[in-house]
Amino acid sequence: MPNSIQTVLKHAATQLTERSDTPKLDAELLLAHCLQKDRSYCYAWGEKQVNQAVLKAFKRLLDRRLSDYPLAYLIGYQGFWSLDLKVSEAVLIPRPETERLVDIALEKIITILSPKILDLGTGSGAIALALASERPDAQIIASDASNAALIIAKENATCHHIGTVQFIQSDWFNQIEPQGFDLIVTNPPYIESQDPHLEQSIRYEPLEALVSGETGLDDIQRILKQALDYMNKGAWILIEHGYNQGKQVPQLMQNIGLQQISCIKDANNNDRLSAGKKG
Ligand SMILES: C[S@@+](CC[C@H](N)C(=O)[O-])C[C@H]1O[C@@H](n2cnc3c(N)ncnc32)[C@H](O)[C@@H]1O
Repeated sequence: MPNSIQTVLKHAATQLTERSDTPKLDAELLLAHCLQKDRSYCYAWGEKQVNQAVLKAFKRLLDRRLSDYPLAYLIGYQGFWSLDLKVSEAVLIPRPETERLVDIALEKIITILSPKILDLGTGSGAIALALASERPDAQIIASDASNAALIIAKENATCHHIGTVQFIQSDWFNQIEPQGFDLIVTNPPYIESQDPHLEQSIRYEPLEALVSGETGLDDIQRILKQALDYMNKGAWILIEHGYNQGKQVPQLMQNIGLQQISCIKDANNNDRLSAGKKG
């Protein structure tokens, strides 16, 4: 049975071992995508033959994956929080680390009825839609400078029947009407322009979602410059940042007069998130 599902998967996983931390999973997701089934189908029907058309499509995707192209772009979606989100090269692939920001954000608004939330640089809509899915009473504005990203974010909102997020194209605060939010969340670009990581697989993701000047701090500085004007008294701002920015970002927060500033570590014990409160 040279082309049974299980033999195709086994061969592909072996090839992927050097390229991916999750070779078996990648192979299963790619084949399931080509078969237009979910992954469990591959387990249930392991003996079934894969026809030539599917095999050809699978081989094309596998070759791309073997050249480091991100799995999420190949299959067209990424799981984030409890949602499968559509992604394309127009948006950053949402990362599991960002779920920590969602966790903390939910804690910060736990006692507020109908909190007003602003998600700056929403990309696929990941943070805004995760928050909306947990807090249907929240009034959320999600903005991005990229219209292509906003098209994807809106599709994700529609697909998950979320109608409480308003999407606005804006260069940070420029097109956001003056108003007070209870919470501002953002995962802005924060990579240094000369960072060697940019040559790795993230090179396929939009540069404008990743890079922020020579120090990686340009966008965070721009956001903090205007943030206080958009925060209610007692409101929080949460900023995801690079693992090596755990000193600078809290300092920038202190410079604008935020209080109760803290830096929160990710599962790998890296400083990845800073929080500050308007007193
Ligand atoms: C690191 S991505 C984060 C995407 C999404 N929030 C997430 O966590 O997956 C940064 C986002 O900021 C957007 N962005 C970059 N510069 C911007 C600007 N000047 N104003 C608004 N959004 C901007 C990018 O288009 C991108 O979608």
